[in-house]
Amino acid sequence: MPSAFAPGKCILFGEHAVVFGHPAVAVAIDQGVRVSVEASDRWKLEGSSFEPSRHPHISHIIRNIFQYSGPPLDIDVDSSLFSAAGMGSSAALSNAFGAAMHAHLNPDEELDAVKLAKMAHSAEATAQKGRASPTDTATSALGGCVVVSGSEVPGTRHVFDTSLKTPEGSREWSINVVDIPQGIGDAWLVIGYSGTGSPTGRMVAKVAKLISEVPERMEEMEAIANITRAGLAALSAGNLEGLGMAMDACHESLRKLEVSSSKLDRMVNAARPHSMGAKLTGAGGGGCMVALTHDPTRVSEAIEVAGGRPLMSRLGAQGVRFL
Ligand code: MEV
Repeated sequence: MPSAFAPGKCILFGEHAVVFGHPAVAVAIDQGVRVSVEASDRWKLEGSSFEPSRHPHISHIIRNIFQYSGPPLDIDVDSSLFSAAGMGSSAALSNAFGAAMHAHLNPDEELDAVKLAKMAHSAEATAQKGRASPTDTATSALGGCVVVSGSEVPGTRHVFDTSLKTPEGSREWSINVVDIPQGIGDAWLVIGYSGTGSPTGRMVAKVAKLISEVPERMEEMEAIANITRAGLAALSAGNLEGLGMAMDACHESLRKLEVSSSKLDRMVNAARPHSMGAKLTGAGGGGCMVALTHDPTRVSEAIEVAGGRPLMSRLGAQGVRFL
């Protein structure tokens, strides 16, 4: 029975701004989603009857990508990610399911991670009413550290380009990777879940509405883009302090875009005394924050005291793989 694992992701910089074509930097994390598929006498998902309308990512991949018309499938999903929490759970699900379907239908064909990333991005876009950057899906498919931008980014290795028609116009992104220097790889990320899920599509639509009502807030997108470039330069140079400082600054800009919450702010503030930097990560609203630290146990305790649920990960796990 083909079984595939795809990691979740943590955005270090650039969430929301990337939907408008600015750069974002994300790393794959140790936690993720495992999916296996096998032929069955009826359609099943995690042991229950599969209802396509409740699972748009899976339905899109079955119908539109593979145009599957074979016997029913029994789909088993096991996730170590909080869902709708900014950890890329739907991207990891799409990648792991796409990889498991590929292995089920074409057992002798090697998996193409770029094709898979594009397939998962189209599933995300369908589920998010046409607004989705390729950040989550590319990071989960390729692993390591991924830089997504409207144009190629100096100091990174270009992997592929992709585009999407969104309600706000056509968007094009360049997907690049960067090696994580030893000094950065030795640090930890502690991701703190606020306990409240927050669908990405809703938060992205909220920011689009804010920008259309208060066009000056577009300046905050430029600010995030500058912070992202500075953060990436610090990461590439192995400068942990600079990386943390940029994370702190990114959180302040995201607050101005009104995507933080009092709970996220509380967890960020609790983590900061023991961290190089801390910020909300992903779409915000609820979801997660992340801290960069050498003392993951202390930061986890601080996040728990602030009412959050912590998860520890190194930066830049391996991308999608078969188990
Ligand atoms: C979601 O993890 C990050 C956002 O930038 C949306 C996207 O990139 O599609 C908020």
